Amino acid sequence: MKNVKEYIDQHKDRFINELIELLKIPSISADSAYKNDVFAAAEAVRQTLEEAGADNTEICQTAGFPVVYAEKIIDINKPTILVYGHYDVQPADPLELWDSPPFDPVIKDGKIYARGSSDDKGQMYMHVKAFELMMNTNQLPCNVKFIIEGEEEVGSANLETFIVDNKEKLKADIILISDTSMLSLEHPSITTGLKGLSYLEVEVTGPNRDLHSGMYGGAVANPINILSKMIASLHDENNRITIPGFYDKVIEASPEERALIAKTPFELDLYKSKLGIKAVHGEKGYSTIERTGIRPTLDVNGIWGGYIGEGAKTVLPSKAYAKISMRLVPNQSDDEITTLFENHFNSIAPDSVSVKVKPHHGGEPYVTPIDTKEYQAASEAIVMAFGKEPVPVRAGGSIPIVALFEQILGLKSILLGFGLDTDAIHSPNESYGVQNFLKGIETITYFYKTYSSKK
Ligand code: BES
Ligand code: MN
Ligand code: MN
Repeated sequence: MKNVKEYIDQHKDRFINELIELLKIPSISADSAYKNDVFAAAEAVRQTLEEAGADNTEICQTAGFPVVYAEKIIDINKPTILVYGHYDVQPADPLELWDSPPFDPVIKDGKIYARGSSDDKGQMYMHVKAFELMMNTNQLPCNVKFIIEGEEEVGSANLETFIVDNKEKLKADIILISDTSMLSLEHPSITTGLKGLSYLEVEVTGPNRDLHSGMYGGAVANPINILSKMIASLHDENNRITIPGFYDKVIEASPEERALIAKTPFELDLYKSKLGIKAVHGEKGYSTIERTGIRPTLDVNGIWGGYIGEGAKTVLPSKAYAKISMRLVPNQSDDEITTLFENHFNSIAPDSVSVKVKPHHGGEPYVTPIDTKEYQAASEAIVMAFGKEPVPVRAGGSIPIVALFEQILGLKSILLGFGLDTDAIHSPNESYGVQNFLKGIETITYFYKTYSSKK
C-alpha cells in the first residue's frame, strides 16, 4: 500500500490533538449527571466520521444513548467491513488517585493519560483515522459501515434492539473491533476470545433495624458476618467455584490447546511487579494466562453495609450488600449461571437472615476461530505493521454485544485491539500509548487491504 506510514507520520500530531478533544468530553454513561456530555460525544464522533469522508452519518436515537452510524459504500459487489466501537467511558472515581484530571488529557512518557484514552475512544478513533487515510489517499478497497455506541460500559441494553431493527442497514461480511488489548508492541497478539458475564447484586437482611452491637451482638445474626462467610464459601481450597453445576458446560481445553497457550510470551515476574503483588492467585492446576483466558471466575466487585464513617459506631447492621460478577467461558450461558447462583446463594443462607439476589446485565462468551481467512487477514496485517507473526490470546474481559452480533447478524468479529493490560482501563490514570495508537491506525489500514484481497 502506498504512503501509509508517510500519511500517518505527516498527520500524527493532528490525529492526537483531535483525539485529545474527544477525550475532554466526560461521556460517562453510568452517571446521569453526565447525560448531556454523552450526547455531545455522540455528535463529536459523528462529525469526525463526516470530516473523514463518510456518507450518511447519523445519530440514531435509542431508548438510551444514541448509536452513531456512518458508511462509505464504494461498490456493492465489494465486501463490507462493519466497525464497532464505543464512545462512552467508565466513571473516573476515585478522582484523588489521578495524577492529572481524567478529562484534561496529558501526554507523558509517550502515553496519553485520560479516561477513555484506551477504552475505547482512543482505539475507536484509530478506525476513524485509518478510514480518513484510505479516503485521502484513494485506497479504500471495500465498503465500510461504522456503529459507535454510547452504552457499552453499562451493558449495551439498547443496542440489541438497534441491531434487530436495522439488520438490513448493518449488512456486512465481517465485524472489526478494537476494544481489547495486545501482549505488547514487541509481541503483537490478536484477541480470540471474550468472556461471558453474569453480574448480580445480593442483599442480606438480618434484624429489622440496626442494633446496638453489645446488647445484641452474638445473639442476633450480623448480616455482614453472614454475607462474608457466604461469599468465602463460594470458592473451595483449590480456588474452584463451589456453585453446584457451575462447571458442567465448560468446554475444557485440549492438551494441544494448553500446550499452545503455554507458549504465549508472558513474564510472570513482570506481571507481579507491575501489580505490586508478591504472588498470583487462582484455580489450582492452571497458569495465569489460562485463568484469565479460558477459565470461568467469580469476583466480588463491591461490598458494603454497616457503619463506615469516621471513628467508631458500635452497631450491628440490619443489612449487607455485595456486587458479584462471574466471567464465563464457552459453553456457559449467563442466564443459566445466574439461576445456578441464585439457587445456591439462597440455599446456603442460614434461617437467621433473608437474602435477595438481583441480576444485572449479562452476556455470552465469544470465541474467534483462527482457521478463517478473516483471521488470516488480521494476522497478515499485523505482520505488515509489526514485522512479527501475532499470537492468539483469549481475553478475560467481556464485550457482550459480540455474541449478539453473531446471533442476530450471523457475523463473526475480528478483535484487533492495541491496548495494553497496563493501560489501567476502568482505573485511575488510564492511558494509551501514542505508539499503540499510531501502529493501530497502520495495522487497521493494512487489514482493509489483506481482507479485501482475500474476499
Ligand atoms: N473494552 C472492555 C472489554 C475488554 C477489555 C475486553 C480488555 C478484553 C480486554 C469493555 O469496555 C468492558 O469494559 N466491558 C465490561 C463489560 C460490560 C458489560 C460492562 C467488562 O469486561 O467488564
Ligand atoms: Mn471497551
Ligand atoms: Mn470498558
